[in-house]
Amino acid sequence: MHNTGISSELFTPFLAQQHPAGKPLPRYRMLFNYLQQGIMTGKLQPATKLPSSRELAQLLMLSRNTVKQVYEMLQAEGYIETRHGAGSFVSPQLNISAGRANKTSPQTSTTIKLSLKSQQIDQLRPLYSHDNKQLLLPAMPAIDQFPWPQWQRSVASAGREMKFSSLRDNQGSPELRREIARYLTASRGIHCRMEQILICSGSQQGMQLAFSMLLNPGDKVLAEDPGFPGIDGAISNAGGIKVSIPIDSNGFRADLAMQNSAGAKVAFITPSRNFPIGYTLSLERRLALLQWARQNGSCIIEDDYDSEFRFDGPPLTAMQGLGGDDCVIYSGTFSRILHPSIRLGYLVLPTALVDPFTRMRGFLDGGLSALPQLALADFMAKGHFSSHLRRMRKLYKARRHYLLQQISEKFSDKLQWLASDGGMHGVFLLSPDYDDQQIAEQAIARGLGIRPLSYYYDQEAAQSGLIIGFAGYDENQMDKGLKILSELL
Ligand SMILES: Cc1ncc(COP(=O)(O)O)c(C=O)c1O
Repeated sequence: MHNTGISSELFTPFLAQQHPAGKPLPRYRMLFNYLQQGIMTGKLQPATKLPSSRELAQLLMLSRNTVKQVYEMLQAEGYIETRHGAGSFVSPQLNISAGRANKTSPQTSTTIKLSLKSQQIDQLRPLYSHDNKQLLLPAMPAIDQFPWPQWQRSVASAGREMKFSSLRDNQGSPELRREIARYLTASRGIHCRMEQILICSGSQQGMQLAFSMLLNPGDKVLAEDPGFPGIDGAISNAGGIKVSIPIDSNGFRADLAMQNSAGAKVAFITPSRNFPIGYTLSLERRLALLQWARQNGSCIIEDDYDSEFRFDGPPLTAMQGLGGDDCVIYSGTFSRILHPSIRLGYLVLPTALVDPFTRMRGFLDGGLSALPQLALADFMAKGHFSSHLRRMRKLYKARRHYLLQQISEKFSDKLQWLASDGGMHGVFLLSPDYDDQQIAEQAIARGLGIRPLSYYYDQEAAQSGLIIGFAGYDENQMDKGLKILSELL
């Protein structure tokens, strides 16, 4: 091209890509991208003179203003410079090779190295993904029974309220904390004020925060075996070491925990109903653990994930309410009562932990979006939460009854129920000739959400079995799921 270091052939590919498939980009954007790429890949070397805007416009059949606009954009971003009377040049001082290595070949391996912590996460057993379309999925509530019209009204009301709320609270919306405090005091025997509550995006985030605040690298965490694998990442991230303690029909073996407790900073337990087996922690062991925590300046994290669904009486008093308000962090979730995607849970903190946790929270994520919190607060204040809970308790009891009946009719020789007084799933031991992981894998491939019991053990699994969700499924759906299971067994 006239008086430049560029041949017009350089623009042949640009002319060829004038009509790309899909939604076309505006022409000025296409030309900008083309020239930027040319500079970044070294086709246009630093200090190369570019054609004048008139010349380039003619060659590319664009308006001169379009080319001028592109040159202005390139200049504003530092790719080219314009010298008065001399024309436009690729910026001579650009160190193209610094940006080029990754750009030219997307296949080249990244130079970014992950931290040791994130490599450790790779060593943990992977978590199951939660596919709401699967049948017999544990932890799945009855979504079709959810009072959607009332919820939609609460969401609309939250939208209006947001207009007037200027507060960003790292502890969570005061309206929701007030409602949760009322609910916990009335129904779970928990001693708490709204000032002790910290709202999280699901209880899992609360545990992440708790472990990062409580553990120093090398500190031990006493945990149930089998237990909830969702805590493994949080413990590993905080540098903690999980010490797995077996359970028996009275729950977590506190006696063994005490023997292994040297250097233990935290005990993570599900006292109302061990996850996943369902045994309740005896009063004697609860008191022993509270005493241990106080004597050692340690902390108990009480994961109360589904205690609301106890069918043969009211929910048991939480450990926090048993005089543990100075050493127990109580963790609750709305995933199971309301909807798995709601991603709202909470921690009830001992008073001394409120300020440090809230400060850290400010650094971690700056608190949660106000809208779902205000919606849930409105939903609870209007009584929809409690009435939904009452209805679901009855419904789940009936659904469990149906599942047990079907299993005893169809699988009595293969599956043996491990009795539990509530929950949203049943645990069924398999006769020894079956491999639970294999059955669960085949079941998942056929659209079931059944989980193998042995997956939940850290040590060698004491027993093999299947975890079958019933709460989210009516009789037809259960029949369909059990039919598939009968073909597999
Ligand atoms: C025992 C247990 N604890 C905690 C959680 C996490 O709940 P969230 O959905 O609130 O993070 C789950 C999830 O299913 C669970 O099974």
